Amino acid sequence: MVVSSVLIQQLLSHQTTAILLLNEHLQVRFINSAAEDMLSVSGNRVIDLPLQQVIENFNPTISELGDALLSNQPYTKREALLKPSHGNSITVNYTVTPIPDETESHLLIEFFTMDRWLQISREENLMWQQQTSKMLTRGFAHEIKNPLGGIRGAAQLLAMELQQKHLADPSLNEYTDIIIGEVDRLSQLADQMMGPNKPLQFCVVNIHEVLERVHQLLASESQGNITIERDYDPSIPEIQGNKEQLIQALLNIALNAQQALADANTPDAHISIRTRTERQITIGNQRHRVVCRVDIRDNGPGIPTALHDTIFYPMVSSKARGTGLGLTIAQHIVNQHQGLIEQHSIPGNTCFTIYIPLPSQRESS
Ligand SMILES: Nc1ncnc2c1ncn2[C@@H]1O[C@H](COP(=O)(O)OP(=O)(O)OP(=O)(O)O)[C@@H](O)[C@H]1O
Ligand SMILES: [Mg+2]
Repeated sequence: MVVSSVLIQQLLSHQTTAILLLNEHLQVRFINSAAEDMLSVSGNRVIDLPLQQVIENFNPTISELGDALLSNQPYTKREALLKPSHGNSITVNYTVTPIPDETESHLLIEFFTMDRWLQISREENLMWQQQTSKMLTRGFAHEIKNPLGGIRGAAQLLAMELQQKHLADPSLNEYTDIIIGEVDRLSQLADQMMGPNKPLQFCVVNIHEVLERVHQLLASESQGNITIERDYDPSIPEIQGNKEQLIQALLNIALNAQQALADANTPDAHISIRTRTERQITIGNQRHRVVCRVDIRDNGPGIPTALHDTIFYPMVSSKARGTGLGLTIAQHIVNQHQGLIEQHSIPGNTCFTIYIPLPSQRESS
């Protein structure tokens, strides 16, 4: 079958891979719509332009392109960072294939964008980390809790014995009271670490009602010393969730921000709470068409660098009186909503982002 050149052009135009065809002078001779989207350019404007004018930081490979033309050898580059003249930098894999011709040779460049894949693997890695931390925490808490019942029982028996035999010296009972009190505290801590042992009851929840409650508690905690801004997208539909648990999760994050600002005596202390929807987000191995995104941002000193990779683990804390469980619990609750928490922090700008899928929008990847 002979395929017409018009059909070939149409086929190339409809390909989802971004394609550029260059002539021997490395000027653009053809660009398909996927490449137009990727480079944020319009096809008519770039035809005949030298490649360097279309992609600014492609220059180091210009000589490689020339070599490919001369040697007639295709080659592939992985994870190259491109800076299109218009638009943001992107990470791509690309393949260069020389197409020799009697009149004029050409180079075909196919780009495969990596940003989405890198993002997915980063998210998968985070989910994996969070699952591992959850398993470790639960196992650890379970092991701590096991002997506590026995210790408490023995202390109670001892207290009774003491009462019977040493009525004259009640101070001895103070020791058993301390044992019982500390055992109860540890047991409560272990319960928190294990999280709720029943599946959460879900119902329809308005995320802004959750955040308004968090705002109220935060405002009373900070006693007017911190400016709290709210920037809500009112079009966000209701989510399926457990309101009380979501308040707990978001409050833990917001209180950390408040404590960081207060501990560092940050001048002009600010916390902002922002909601938006976001499209095409992969959490674990699920792709979600639309998710609700909550950003809780503060202008405090930032997360200590040494803790960056471990703050979601239990018992990780920079505070003298911190249990290091706030974020572990928050992450556990958000995970139960099929969601994800991410953080980015530099001094003066710390942001915790919570993604929660919106109902009936989930699709398998
Ligand atoms: N907004 C923030 N700014 C700076 N550091 C933060 C922020 N949020 C969290 N952190 C760091 O992460 C650590 C862990 O937080 P997490 O809430 O898990 O425990 P904690 O606040 O120390 O104790 P608690 O169990 O009482 O919440 C904190 O001790 C702090 O060092
Ligand atoms: Mg905390």
